[in-house]
Amino acid sequence: MVKFRGSDFISGFHDFAIRRGGLTVYPRLVAAQHTSSFQREFIPSGVTALDTLMGGGIDRGTSTLLIGPPGSGKSTLALQYATAATERGDHAATFVFDETKSALLSRSVGIGMQVNEGLGAGEIAICQIDPVAVSPGEFAHLVRSSVERDRARVVIIDSLNGYLNAMPQNNYLTAQLHELLSYLNNHGVATFFTVAQSGIIGANMTSPVDASYLADSVVLLRYFELAGTVRKAISVLKKRTGGHEGSIRELWFDKLGIHLSEPLLQLRGVLTGGPIEVEHADEHKRRIQPGDHVT
Ligand SMILES: Nc1ncnc2c1ncn2[C@@H]1O[C@H](COP(=O)(O)OP(=O)(O)O)[C@@H](O)[C@H]1O
Ligand SMILES: [Mg+2]
Repeated sequence: MVKFRGSDFISGFHDFAIRRGGLTVYPRLVAAQHTSSFQREFIPSGVTALDTLMGGGIDRGTSTLLIGPPGSGKSTLALQYATAATERGDHAATFVFDETKSALLSRSVGIGMQVNEGLGAGEIAICQIDPVAVSPGEFAHLVRSSVERDRARVVIIDSLNGYLNAMPQNNYLTAQLHELLSYLNNHGVATFFTVAQSGIIGANMTSPVDASYLADSVVLLRYFELAGTVRKAISVLKKRTGGHEGSIRELWFDKLGIHLSEPLLQLRGVLTGGPIEVEHADEHKRRIQPGDHVT
């Protein structure tokens, strides 16, 4: 719309969809039109070491980027915050672009994670998005419904790579995403979004989109090699709303859930993929089991 005499209107371009039953217009999301008061509080993950790493927890009304190569644990960590929210009786919603609902559910069962699917309190809505069929405007509309209708307190967008595929052009993505994240922050939602990096191990990781400046917190996941095995590492790069640990910890999953080691103080170069032990070089060949404190 370019002119509407006697009334205000939301300028700019709006997505629409023509489906059986008619045409639906999805008004452009303007975050500044949505403010609500909410209490600043920590959202714990239910994994003590993860909360310690995050400086106590994630703040309500902030967004967290989980970034790392495929299989490094981004989706699982995000879902952990969602299941912890449902255990507190909150509603959570996850928008899944890259995998099927059944893959997500079977992985969760494998690591002992309780996912109660549904639209109510204490339940997680798992919304599988087809990036080819859904426009950014329609996606924003789905996110709004989950917040305003279903009262989601934790929202996951998994992944931005998938979201990117739904977008006609790149600079438009950043603006829309920024608006969406601001909207979610204004509603006191804890948002988690993931970016899959290409490159499996080593320092030469590339991202399809630089979203780190959009996020209030950034969690970095990496693979590293140690004693003939490939391990996962986790570190927090930034947290806008408070302190966090500067350490790198090992991360692993088993049927009991998510585990983090103590900070890997004796290893140097974990994020390059090929660390060396700084003090006990003679014990370099010692096989370190997941969770061993490398002292
Ligand atoms: N039942 C399980 N036991 C142990 N580890 C598992 C299990 N299921 C999945 N994993 C681990 O989780 C990883 C996948 O995590 P995921 O959160 O899907 O990663 P990402 O979203 O970064 O691609 C796998 O690489 C595997 O190491
Ligand atoms: Mg994933």
